[in-house]
Amino acid sequence: MITRTLPESIAYSKPKPRGPEAMDALKIKGGKALKGSVRVGGAKNAALPIIAATLLAEGENTITNMPALADVDTMAKLLAMMGAEVDKREKGVLRIATDKLKDFEAPYDLVRTMRASVLVLGPLLARYGQCRVSLPGGCAIGARPIDQHLKGLTALGADITLVHGYVEAKASRLKGTTFIFDVNTVTGTENVLMAAVLARGETVLRNAALEPEVVDLANALRSMGAEIEGDGTTDIRVVGREGLSPMKHAVMPDRIEAGTFAAAAAMSGGDVLVEGGVLSHLGAVADKLRDAGAKLTQEAGGYRVIGPKRLKAIDFTTAPYPGFATDMQAQLMAAMAVAEGSSVVRETVFENRYMHVPEMTRLGADITIDGNVAVVRGVEKLMGATVMATDLRASASLVLSGLVAEGETVVRRIYHLDRGYAALEKKLAGLGAEITRFSE
Ligand code: EPU
Repeated sequence: MITRTLPESIAYSKPKPRGPEAMDALKIKGGKALKGSVRVGGAKNAALPIIAATLLAEGENTITNMPALADVDTMAKLLAMMGAEVDKREKGVLRIATDKLKDFEAPYDLVRTMRASVLVLGPLLARYGQCRVSLPGGCAIGARPIDQHLKGLTALGADITLVHGYVEAKASRLKGTTFIFDVNTVTGTENVLMAAVLARGETVLRNAALEPEVVDLANALRSMGAEIEGDGTTDIRVVGREGLSPMKHAVMPDRIEAGTFAAAAAMSGGDVLVEGGVLSHLGAVADKLRDAGAKLTQEAGGYRVIGPKRLKAIDFTTAPYPGFATDMQAQLMAAMAVAEGSSVVRETVFENRYMHVPEMTRLGADITIDGNVAVVRGVEKLMGATVMATDLRASASLVLSGLVAEGETVVRRIYHLDRGYAALEKKLAGLGAEITRFSE
C-alpha cells in the first residue's frame, strides 16, 4: 500500500541553504594500493528513465536496486510534485503510483539542477497527451540540446511549441512511425521509446543508442507489457499498446561506478573485486585498461582488476557505447596523469568536458588541451592540494587523483559526487583508502 506521506528526502521542503559553508568535502591521504572487494549499486542513468517510465501505467510500480543518490531523489521529487505517490521507506526500493497526477510540468528550477528531468516528456505525452517541460539550457559539460527528443516526439504526432523557455507538447493518441535519429543520443532514444510504447501501431527507431541503460529501460518497459524488440541494436521496433501495467524491475548495476573502481584499482597498483560489475558493460574502457597494463577478469560475482606497479600511457577517444564512455574519460585521464609516457585523449561526445584538467594541474599533472584533444604527459607523482570540480565525473577523477597523490588532497563541492556515487568515500575506505568526509 502506498502512503501519501512523503519521506523526508523528497518532501517539498524549502531547499537547505547551500552556501560554501554548508558544503561537504573529502580529505584524502594518497598512496595506498586499493585491495579487497566493493559492491556496485544500481545505475543512476538507468534508474532515472525507469522512474520516468512509471508515468506510463496505472497502479503501483516497484523498482528495486535503486541507488541512494541525489539525482534519484530529484527525479522522485519531480514525480511527487506532479501528484504521484512515492514511497521510498524500504532501502533500495522505490514504489511509485502515478494515477492521480494533477500537474504535467517539469519546472525550470528542477530541470536546471538535473537535465534528466526531460525524460518525463515522452511518457507524459503518451499517457496524458500533454506536458510542459523547461528547456534545460547548457550545463557544465556542454550545450546539450534536446532537438532529437523533440523531433522524435513530433514524428510520433506530438504538437510541440517553445514558449518562454518551456517545451509545451500536446497530442491526442500518438501514432507509430519510423524515425531516424541524426545524432546518437541516450536520453533522446529513451524519451522517444517511452512515447512509442503507447502509440498506435508500429514504431521503428533507427540509429538508436546502444547503451546498456537503454536495454535496462526496455526490460523495465517489457515488464509493464510493452512490446519492444531490437534494444541494444541500432534499430528498435515497438508495437504500441492500448495500456500498460505497473512494473516490477531491478535496476542494472552502475557500469560507470564500477569503471571508476576499476580505474582506482588499476592506477593504485591494487587488486579489487568489483562486485556486481559486468565487464562487457565497460566496452572499450576494459580494453584500454588492459592495454595500459591492468589485468581484468570476469568472475562469478563481478570483475577483478589488478593494477601493475605503474600503468603505461595509452591513447583513447570517447564515443557512444560500446566505444570508450565519455563518463569514464576524466577518471582514465587521472590514471594517465601518473602513467609512464604520454597519452592523447580525444573527447568527441561533449564539447566542454575537460573541467577537471586545471584542477588536476593543481595536483601536479602535466596536461595540455587543444580543442577537444588533451595531451597528458605522465608524471612520477601527483602532489596533494585543494581542488574542486563543477561536474560529477570530473569530481570522481579528482578523488582518484587524490588517492595516488603524495600527501593530503581536499576535494571540495562534493555535492556533484553525491548526485551519482552513493557513499563513495565509504566504499573506497573499505578498500583501504585513507579518505574521510567533513563539512567545511
Ligand atoms: N545531442 C544533440 N541533440 C539531442 C541530444 C543530444 O545534439 O537532442 C548531443 C549532445 O549535445 C551530445 C551528444 O548528442 O553532444 C550525446 O548526448 P546524449 O543525448 O547521448 O547524452 P544524454 O542522454 O544527455 C546521457 C547520460 C550522460 C552521458 C551521456 C553520454 C543520462 C541521464 N545521462 O546523457 O551521463 O554522459 O548520455 O553517454 O543517461 C553522467 O552520468 O555523468 C552523465 C553526464
